[in-house]
Amino acid sequence: MEVRVISGRIEGLKDQALALTFFEEEAPLKGLAKEIDIPLAGAISKLRKQGDFTGKSGQVVVFYPVQAFQFERIFLIGLGKRDKFELDYIRQSAGRAVLKAKELRLPSLTFAYPDNLSAKYQPVDISQALTEGAFLGNYNFDLYKTADPDKKVEFKSFTVYSPDAKRRVPLEKGKEWGELTSWASSIARDWINLPGNALTPNKLAEEAKKLALKYEVKFQALTPTEISKLKMGGLLGVSRGSSEPCRFLILEYMRGRAKDAPIVFVGKGVTFDSGGISIKPAEKMEEMKADMSGAAAAIAATLAVARMRLPVNLVTLVPATENLPSGSSLKPGDLLTALNGKTIEVINTDAEGRLILADALAYAGRYKPKAVIDLATLTGSCIVALGHNRAGLLGNDRGLLDRVKKAAEATAEKVWELPLDDEYKEQIKSNIADVKNSGGRPAGTITAAKFLEMFVDNYSWAHLDIAGMDLEFNGKPYIPKGGTGFGTRLLIQLIRDWVGR
Ligand code: BES
Ligand code: MN
Ligand code: ZN
Repeated sequence: MEVRVISGRIEGLKDQALALTFFEEEAPLKGLAKEIDIPLAGAISKLRKQGDFTGKSGQVVVFYPVQAFQFERIFLIGLGKRDKFELDYIRQSAGRAVLKAKELRLPSLTFAYPDNLSAKYQPVDISQALTEGAFLGNYNFDLYKTADPDKKVEFKSFTVYSPDAKRRVPLEKGKEWGELTSWASSIARDWINLPGNALTPNKLAEEAKKLALKYEVKFQALTPTEISKLKMGGLLGVSRGSSEPCRFLILEYMRGRAKDAPIVFVGKGVTFDSGGISIKPAEKMEEMKADMSGAAAAIAATLAVARMRLPVNLVTLVPATENLPSGSSLKPGDLLTALNGKTIEVINTDAEGRLILADALAYAGRYKPKAVIDLATLTGSCIVALGHNRAGLLGNDRGLLDRVKKAAEATAEKVWELPLDDEYKEQIKSNIADVKNSGGRPAGTITAAKFLEMFVDNYSWAHLDIAGMDLEFNGKPYIPKGGTGFGTRLLIQLIRDWVGR
């Protein structure tokens, strides 16, 4: 699929469909809508007056005009009430338009630039949002469908049309940002959607390596021997039950000033989480192929930052492993020693994410980082607390937490902060070791973060618990069922804000 930006008079345009957006309860037509209503003999006004199209959020009405310049169809898309508007409605509208086009088996559509938004929304940002909505709405994962009729109808072209030629430059720029963020989110989605037998730790390393080298990111994937030499006891412990070797991925993109401390992303890369000896119930266990969603987002975001050539020093660390039961598995009661020498009593082998992140967070300290942001599908508790609408956010630095919140709002990859009080540490005290890996049911997301905090080596740190955000179950306008790539756009935005681009 491609996104194009065009300007000029509407008479010269021709497409399968023209999509127009409207606010609810705003009767008189303005701008382009008003202009188009004339050759349509007032059809839009009539649809509104009759209540067929009210403009409520999510509404899409298609009609077939006798004459509407060179457009075969008109899509009217509701934005909802103006006072409720957020930029994400633009992403959603673009996604809805593309979904409607696909339903009608159209290869292309033209989307009229919404020129009636408050001045606080910049053309460059609107264009980025339109591009993201179109690309991410068009995303599908059909690699393994051998005979799917939908495979043949391809949606090819999304045109953003703004009459005013002066907007062209920012619209083109926004389109470029949106292409790169969507590209990255789609890579993350692909990796999440790949079955556990296709995306093993080794395969994740290979796929990441291919792209890292292509976009000039230094890449290493440590082998089990190297991981043993480093004494990453958490990662080794979790991987013990699996016959797939674990890997520790290190991506380094150093385009900032030489003396600038890097920002480090850490992503949980469990390519399949059965729970290990503390095995999970069979129902929905297949969803645990998505337990590498944090890794996918962190790597994909890093690749996008590299393609954007942003002036930043950025390191991404991914401990990658399977978590399986076998005769060689880690057992409840076992003792592990993490990279930083701290000892861990394993209470529950299903609390494996924190074991591998312990090593990665300790390793991050070697960079003397400016900030570390980890992403992990860490706790079922986070779904109990926040459902499937927001990720949990915890950390030790107000400034960093606020940066993450800002990026989350801008990208609509929403987060909600949870407390990290020291009282919660009581729950993870061990009788025989420095810490135990489960604090029981109460405040499970917080006690998991308290565990991670023990491996944070005096740097500024934010933790995103993205359990519940990794997979979409119903399908949303630009988030089809399956892997969401949640966090990818958030991380890219965080870096863009940091370097002021
Ligand atoms: N990967 C899971 C968390 C998860 C659950 C992610 C559901 C997405 C959807 C994690 O490894 C896990 O199993 N956590 C345990 C921790 C507990 C044993 C302390 C949990 O949340 O049950
Ligand atoms: Mn688990
Ligand atoms: Zn897990």
